[in-house]
Amino acid sequence: MPRMNGHAASGHQGARPSRQINVVLRSHETYGLGASSAAAQQVDYPEPAGAARQAPAADPYAEIQKEMEHMVGMEGVKSLIYEIYALLLISQMRSEAGLSGGAQVYHMIFKGNPGTGKTTIARIVAKLFQKMGLLSKGHLIEVERADLVGEYIGHTAQKTRDLVKKALGGVLFVDEAYSLARGGEKDFGKEAIDTLVKAMEDYRSQFVLILAGYPLEIEHFLLTNPGLPSRFPIQIDFPDYSVDQLIQIAELMAKDRDYSLLPQTVFKLRSHLIQEKTATLYSFSNARYVRNLIEKSIRHQAVRLLNQYASASPGRQELMSIRPEDMRWEGKVKQPGELG
Ligand SMILES: Nc1ncnc2c1ncn2[C@@H]1O[C@H](COP(=O)(O)OP(=O)(O)OP(=O)(O)O)[C@@H](O)[C@H]1O
Ligand SMILES: [Mg+2]
Repeated sequence: MPRMNGHAASGHQGARPSRQINVVLRSHETYGLGASSAAAQQVDYPEPAGAARQAPAADPYAEIQKEMEHMVGMEGVKSLIYEIYALLLISQMRSEAGLSGGAQVYHMIFKGNPGTGKTTIARIVAKLFQKMGLLSKGHLIEVERADLVGEYIGHTAQKTRDLVKKALGGVLFVDEAYSLARGGEKDFGKEAIDTLVKAMEDYRSQFVLILAGYPLEIEHFLLTNPGLPSRFPIQIDFPDYSVDQLIQIAELMAKDRDYSLLPQTVFKLRSHLIQEKTATLYSFSNARYVRNLIEKSIRHQAVRLLNQYASASPGRQELMSIRPEDMRWEGKVKQPGELG
């Protein structure tokens, strides 16, 4: 459970009774947002407050925090989201105090393998910006190369501009962004990048652009576009989940759906995940893989129960339990007695 220190209500309240202040920045910490991996590894960050903290009704962070509590691990990501919140809140206070706001840029790069939570966090970021008044709508438009790139000269710019317009007031999330640089100078992907860069100027502070992709490809993409890194001061790393975290995610996903994994099921899942993670290495789809397994095992359980209990209800416990035989994956030879 995250600690509670670091951001209890502060003495500012007396000065401004109408507003509850939830943040106290520790003086020795700097809140630069440039170096993501360094930031993510730093251990003495103020962590998002724990569930025990009584958040005031108007606390824009409370809901965000609640959603992030549902996310297993991701400590680095959570810290960075908290930093962004702190920065937004302090900027508001600074401008109220007549201090320079120092126009911040909030465009971001998300680096992570498949299923590491990038889209989920992009949605949370969009909501945070909306709650903090930075974005008017806080919606997320998720696109990939095919949505941006057209078939003839000018078509790409038009398609890209149209999507930027749809994203105004929210977040434009470009997945597998590196694929825009795939075809080199003559490819229309470049036109999409140029249009995006121009839109960042034209619609300054009307939308937030998040480029996402697998770590190595994104690194390469940024190297081949020297003008880009400085436009995306916030970089967030989404590390692969450990087997323990994947198990926790599986249990959480089952619980959210009112199911539970029997201990033997967890045992079976654990040994499978160990194998699968090693076998697929870069293509392993982390939490997404686990979600697919859980959803499949729920279907398998339904078929099993119908076969076992033809005329009566299996009862609450049975209806909830995912047994090891329900948890199956492709390539596995069926055990005698297992249902297909
Ligand atoms: N830390 C986590 N805890 C619980 N659930 C998670 C976590 N990370 C991801 N998930 C779940 O896993 C699924 C995949 O996550 P998401 O779509 O955000 O990943 P992604 O990085 O965008 O994947 P991709 O690169 O394939 O688009 C979602 O159902 C999400 O809720
Ligand atoms: Mg995604």
